[in-house]
Amino acid sequence: MVDQIVLYPRWLKLWHSVNGILCLFLMITGLVMQYTSPSTIVFSFSTAITIHNICGILLIISWVIFIIANALSRNGSYYKISFNLLRESIVQFRYYIFGMFKGESKPFKEDEVRKFNPLQQLTYWLTMYIILPLIVITGFIMINIEQLLSDEHGIFIYQIADFLHICAAFLISVFMIIHFYLASLDGKTNFKKII
Ligand code: HEM
Ligand code: HEM
Repeated sequence: MVDQIVLYPRWLKLWHSVNGILCLFLMITGLVMQYTSPSTIVFSFSTAITIHNICGILLIISWVIFIIANALSRNGSYYKISFNLLRESIVQFRYYIFGMFKGESKPFKEDEVRKFNPLQQLTYWLTMYIILPLIVITGFIMINIEQLLSDEHGIFIYQIADFLHICAAFLISVFMIIHFYLASLDGKTNFKKII
């Protein structure tokens, strides 16, 4: 029997809830900024920017806490990647698209050494160590937007940062939808682990 308290300590649950709520707010306000004009009355454009900036700063803090806590605790050991993980991820992917519907048993069992299946391990690593840093750094660069847009050099930096920020935002949004769907496959069991 796997000890869920060891695998999902209190700090991890707290971080995950804060992170999930902030990401939801960031997605909604990000979409408002992208698809409405500054004159929109329904949801003020400047309110969206203010909420986005506050949640953005909080997300930076929560991400830094996660990275430090992961480095100092055993949770970091579940985020190691290798070439073998790529091969195993293909096996897991095949299970998700065929095996699962044919009633096959899971190719990898969860225990205290292997907390995640290979595909989870790869996507959680990509999300936490590549995509979130990208969104956090580009967001931080753009936060002082007036100053950035005041000279030609700044406009160029803004355009690059904005493009990367939108790409990362898209990937995080896709991740969240698939993450939610896969977590729900085992009924409520997975949600109970992390709440
Ligand atoms: C889940 C995380 C995030 C998502 C989904 C997200 C999404 C977005 C989107 C869709 C836009 C609109 C881009 C445009 O229309 O050009 C935007 C803009 C912006 N984001 Fe984020 N963002 C996230 C995190 C952050 C963070 C951590 C910061 C850092 C403080 C940040 C700061 C900004 C700034 C300053 C802008 C304004 C850029 C502009 O006015 O063109 N964002 N974000
Ligand atoms: C609000 C929507 C979300 C729900 C319902 C949700 C659900 C879950 C569940 C049930 C787990 C535990 C099972 C598992 O390990 O797969 C989990 C773990 C995890 N989630 Fe989420 N999640 C959400 C948002 C997010 C977001 C926005 C991110 C990152 C940007 C994220 C990153 C992670 C990570 C990295 C883990 C593994 C944590 C660890 O054990 O080290 N989640 N999530």
